[in-house]
Amino acid sequence: MTFVSRSVEETEALGERLARAASPGSVFALRGGLGAGKTAMTRGMARGLGVLDPVTSPTYTLINEYDGDMPLYHMDAYRLHGPAEFELLDAARYLHGDGLCVVEWSERVEGALPAHSARIEISPEPDGSRTITLASPDLEAALA
Ligand SMILES: Nc1ncnc2c1ncn2[C@@H]1O[C@H](COP(=O)(O)OP(=O)(O)OP(=O)(O)O)[C@@H](O)[C@H]1O
Ligand SMILES: [Mg+2]
Repeated sequence: MTFVSRSVEETEALGERLARAASPGSVFALRGGLGAGKTAMTRGMARGLGVLDPVTSPTYTLINEYDGDMPLYHMDAYRLHGPAEFELLDAARYLHGDGLCVVEWSERVEGALPAHSARIEISPEPDGSRTITLASPDLEAALA
């Protein structure tokens, strides 16, 4: 399923919709280069879950946890070197937990992601818009 976002607000709004369609244990594996809009989408997901705290990038902390309708676990694998390092951080606790888990730079920890993870790729276009591709049988059915 493909979406076009013409602004950061549109990317946030899509994140909000996706989070509302998600359920406890959902994992969103986000890819897209530096500045593509992964954190913006996560901010929208937080809004969709009613999270009140501001979402900040967990590039250094690796995992941020927020209270919402269900817990939001926001992870950033940018500084990791692979699934083994991810597992050392007790990532499984979040990936197989009772909340919504979002992983930025998920391609760095591919081997540790649950098979049911929803895949989201954000691709900047020459005109500044973003093409956003969602691959998730469950969510695509829910959004259709
Ligand atoms: N359609 C769009 N969707 C999302 N962000 C957009 C869009 N158009 C422009 N932007 C800008 O792109 C930037 C996206 O930043 P963001 O931190 O969300 O990216 P990121 O993918 O998380 O980057 P990083 O790899 O550094 O974590 C923001 O400055 C935002 O204003
Ligand atoms: Mg980011």
